[in-house]
Amino acid sequence: MSEAGAMAKDGHSGDSQAVSLVTANRRGRTTTRLNEINRRFAELAGRASRPVLDLGCAFGVATHAALEAGATVHANDIDPAHLEATARDAPAGTAQRLHLVPGGFPADLEFAPGSLSLVHASNLLNFLSGAEIETGFAKIAAWLEPGGRFLSISGSPYAANIRAFGAIYEANRAAGVPWPGECHDLPAISDDPTISELPRFLHLLDPDVLSRAARAAGLEVEEAQFFHRAGTPDYIALDGRENVVFVARKPTPEDEKGQMHP
Ligand SMILES: C[S@@+](CC[C@H](N)C(=O)[O-])C[C@H]1O[C@@H](n2cnc3c(N)ncnc32)[C@H](O)[C@@H]1O
Repeated sequence: MSEAGAMAKDGHSGDSQAVSLVTANRRGRTTTRLNEINRRFAELAGRASRPVLDLGCAFGVATHAALEAGATVHANDIDPAHLEATARDAPAGTAQRLHLVPGGFPADLEFAPGSLSLVHASNLLNFLSGAEIETGFAKIAAWLEPGGRFLSISGSPYAANIRAFGAIYEANRAAGVPWPGECHDLPAISDDPTISELPRFLHLLDPDVLSRAARAAGLEVEEAQFFHRAGTPDYIALDGRENVVFVARKPTPEDEKGQMHP
C-alpha cells in the first residue's frame, strides 16, 4: 500500500484481503480488489492486439491485472504519486510493458489515431464536467482502433453518502438540464464524513447522458445501465443503482457499410 493513501478494511465485501485506499488528492477511494469492469478490462486486455489505456488508474488495481494478462498498458493518473505507486507495485517482469502517462484527462493526453485496443475508466468520469466528457469521448473515439472498446464504471446520483442529491438530479432531469448530475457544491448537500475525501465538484452520471455523449463522438453503445457493484461499501449502498456501467465500441468500416446498405 502506498504512503499516499489511508487504508481501511473493506468489511462489506467479506474479503479479508480487500482494502479501500483513500486517494492522495481527494479523488475518492480505490481498492485492492478488482470490480466487475476492472475484470472485464483485464480479460479483454489479455487478447488485445494493441496497447490499452487505464484512465485514472490510482494505485494500479486494474493496470496490474491487465499487465498480468499480458497487455501493454498506458497507465494514466493526474497525481504523479499514484503513478509511482503503480510502477513500484507492478507485477514482476512487466516493467517494459508499463508506460506511465501523467496528466489530466482529457486535456493533457494525446495518442496516435487508432493506436489503442481498449480504454478503461473506473470511477474517473465523476471528476469531469459534461463538456470534458464530450471532449474526452471524442478523443477516445479517435484513439481506439476500429472494433476497440471503452469500458467504464462510474458513481450515479443514487448513493447513500450523497442521498440528498437524488432529488436535485431528478428535478434537473425533468427540467431538461443537459448534464443533470453535475453537483457544484458537494459539502452543501451532504455532511457524510466521506465527503472530505472528494472535491467540491462531483458529476453523478446516468446511462442516458453517457450514451448521448458517446453517440455524438461516433461510438456505438453496447451497455449502459445502473448497476450494483459486488462489495459496494456501506457508505455508498442505497437501492442497487449506485453505479453506472457503460461500454461503447468504435464501429468497424464493415459495420458502417452494413448501416449504409441494410
Ligand atoms: C476514485 S479513484 C479510482 C481509481 C481506480 N480507477 C479504481 O477504480 O479504483 C480516481 C482516480 O482518478 C484520478 N483522476 C481524477 N481526475 C483525473 C483526471 N482528470 N485525469 C486523470 N486522472 C484523474 C485520481 O487521481 C484518482 O487516482
